Amino acid sequence: MINQRRPDGSLRHLITLDGLPRAELEDLLARAQHFVCEPGEQPRANQSLAGITIGNLFTEPSTRTRVSFELAGRRLGAEVVNLEVQLSSRAKGETMLDTIYTLQALHFDMFIIRDPQAGVVAHVAENVAPHVSVLSAGEAHVSHPTQGLLDALTIRQRKGDRFERLTIAVVGDIRHSRVARSAYEVFRGLGVGDLRLVAPAAMMPDAGEFAGTHRFATPEEGLRDVDVVMMLRIQKERMEQAAIPDGDDYFARFGLTPARLAFAKPDAIVMHPQPMNRGVEIDSAVADGPQSVIRDQVRNGVAMRMAVLETIARPRPLRS
Ligand code: NCD
Repeated sequence: MINQRRPDGSLRHLITLDGLPRAELEDLLARAQHFVCEPGEQPRANQSLAGITIGNLFTEPSTRTRVSFELAGRRLGAEVVNLEVQLSSRAKGETMLDTIYTLQALHFDMFIIRDPQAGVVAHVAENVAPHVSVLSAGEAHVSHPTQGLLDALTIRQRKGDRFERLTIAVVGDIRHSRVARSAYEVFRGLGVGDLRLVAPAAMMPDAGEFAGTHRFATPEEGLRDVDVVMMLRIQKERMEQAAIPDGDDYFARFGLTPARLAFAKPDAIVMHPQPMNRGVEIDSAVADGPQSVIRDQVRNGVAMRMAVLETIARPRPLRS
């Protein structure tokens, strides 16, 4: 596995949350909380990344992640360039590394990469110049570290930081989900008491993965008395055509309706990383209902990415 740290121990890249100690995760969440502001308020901003140039290289579609990384960089005073990778030289056969070396010659200091192929982000990180940092914005089905962090931040805002007291259910296409894998890593790191996987057999991860979680075949069993329900989109782009379930059938068995949500605690929160398929994995009455924190997740995305960028570009000792 790639070493994400500098020789002094500070975080240089962010490719995975696996192995990040609890104190470091908590420091990131606390820093992010400082940047959170409500829509309509003046956004928090500073100049801590002045002079730094960030390249956003996304070779898979993205709305929230790309825009929030861009805003996060700009609100910290960095220069941010969005590269339309599909349209540029990678489509002509230039490798990702050749593109990166070109951009390094143009004085880029950080690359934010989303790629459908596992291992590309780490490969870039292993080959960039020593002053350059690489951050994953979603790697295949493997990881999406800033999503995991913003999900933890959203839970902390509503449920407090005693993660060991919480029961969290992740529901849906866990097998193909990078969101679920990063959530698992951050929840394990923060000591979540009971982590449940709720999915049909074809969407359950292999037995060797997600150690220490409890598995359920139906939402009626898996949602009982949970504090947090985290819904996932069916990752059709990572499935064989024949394996993609019919939307109506899936909704009938796994869709989060008000009746199913009633199995959770009355004050349970409902999360979804988006994009959502209403009427497939979630009912609009739940997505737009009082227990939904889906828009908080979006708001928190900018704050969390500001905290990550600042932590990487301007390392400082953990607060004790
Ligand atoms: C997710 C992704 O791309 O992994 N979206 C996001 O970043 N918020 C989830 C998904 O596509 O289902």
